[in-house]
Amino acid sequence: MTDRLRATSSSGIGCKGKERVAAIAGHICPIAGGPGDREGDRGGGGGGGEVSRFDEVSLLAAMASEEVHCAPISAWAKLAQAPEDPILGVTVAYNRDPNPVKLNLGVGAYRTDEGKPYVLHVVRRAEAALVGDRSRNKEYLPIVGLAAFNKLSRALAFGADHPAVLSNRIATVQCLSGTGSLRVGAEFMAQHYHTPVIYVPVPTWGNHNKVFPKAGLKLLTYRYYDPATRGLNFAGMIDDLQAAPDGAVILLHACAHNPTGVDPLPEQWDAIRQVIRAKRQLPFFDSAYQGFASGDLDVDAYSLRSFAADGGEMALAQSFAKNMGLYGERVGALSMVCATPEAARLVEGQLKLVIRPMYSSPPLHGAAIVATVLGDEKLFQEWKVELKGMADRIIDMREKLYQALVARGTPGNWTHILKQIGMFTFTGLNKTQVDFMREKYHVYMTGDGRISMAGLSTSTVPRLANAIDDAVRNVA
Ligand SMILES: Cc1ncc(COP(=O)(O)O)c(C=O)c1O
Repeated sequence: MTDRLRATSSSGIGCKGKERVAAIAGHICPIAGGPGDREGDRGGGGGGGEVSRFDEVSLLAAMASEEVHCAPISAWAKLAQAPEDPILGVTVAYNRDPNPVKLNLGVGAYRTDEGKPYVLHVVRRAEAALVGDRSRNKEYLPIVGLAAFNKLSRALAFGADHPAVLSNRIATVQCLSGTGSLRVGAEFMAQHYHTPVIYVPVPTWGNHNKVFPKAGLKLLTYRYYDPATRGLNFAGMIDDLQAAPDGAVILLHACAHNPTGVDPLPEQWDAIRQVIRAKRQLPFFDSAYQGFASGDLDVDAYSLRSFAADGGEMALAQSFAKNMGLYGERVGALSMVCATPEAARLVEGQLKLVIRPMYSSPPLHGAAIVATVLGDEKLFQEWKVELKGMADRIIDMREKLYQALVARGTPGNWTHILKQIGMFTFTGLNKTQVDFMREKYHVYMTGDGRISMAGLSTSTVPRLANAIDDAVRNVA
């Protein structure tokens, strides 16, 4: 046994005697600072650092009585290298790039026309009011979160006087932004829904493909985007929904579909709803961009409200990351619209059982900001103006980029830049072209050719247009 014990450098990790004995029993713990580490004991005899000359019993006794060191052999040493997240990894690569003119269009976060992150004025004002209010404290929120936030979020999505809201048929729980709301909703469905299968559009936000299977739902897809028209494959979508099993969960982007920027028209939404209702499927809306698509909160809620109006059940994951610029505050809500108030009460109880062992209760600060803004008529009106300002700047970037490509005579039809909605343009550039633009122009976007229009500014449009023009002309 002793030949497995090796002296090592004193940079080893601290390790108490008892643990060390246990580690030796598992044949993994080398020694430093113990008898075998003494200079005089190392020399001669070959195998410098070997402790074969030591009596095992006294060694163990010594180990048990004093603090010794384990070599830095990690239990995780054999882990596979994890790949970077395909979306967040773009920012990692961007941050590593020393080029001063680099441009990050990968991350879905709003930037000013100066290219700077933007904290909304109403958010600053709400925060100032919160900080100045000495009656506030930092106690835990309940498992379901801040009651005022839940009520106001629900009203924002469905309308304050919506029958489902007024009749208490909606169970709302505050969650960790949009992702957390999706995850809690999915876990709940995996445990309690009779058909734990979810259909997502192709393509969809990359994290959907991970969140739902992790939560225990079987993931399947329906056709959504048509690369030929760079628009909606409406017929394909309807066919696939028809072919999906009765009762399946259908993931729908409420507005500003990510990554394509392609949304159904209102009449198309009505047809989609009819199929889903006829098949008693469960619509699960992901609303990460309310107000960001058109600049109008009500216009962007059309899909949600039309589904809620027909009395059928549905789920909604809501995020305030983009529309209130609260990315890092992680504030969102899951609402389950139920057929009866009694069902909503039961659902809420089970959602608490999902949340409690997951993260216990949600964070306070972001929810308090949202509740302050939504609950104060003056701040609410100001928010709408700021939101419209953000949406308009994005629309302006669409126009500028389109004009810049037309001015360069860039081969191809670029009208989809104008037609697509919300934060992103799905350019149609392929992976080789994307890589080329990163290498030569230091322009960063996701591998599928998606660019965040919110990351573009008047001064960076020409560079992006040059890069696209070069890629389209010279890279297949
Ligand atoms: C479609 C979609 N859903 C959900 C999210 C979740 O965002 P968050 O968890 O930051 O609210 C995003 C963010 O990019 C998104 O694009």
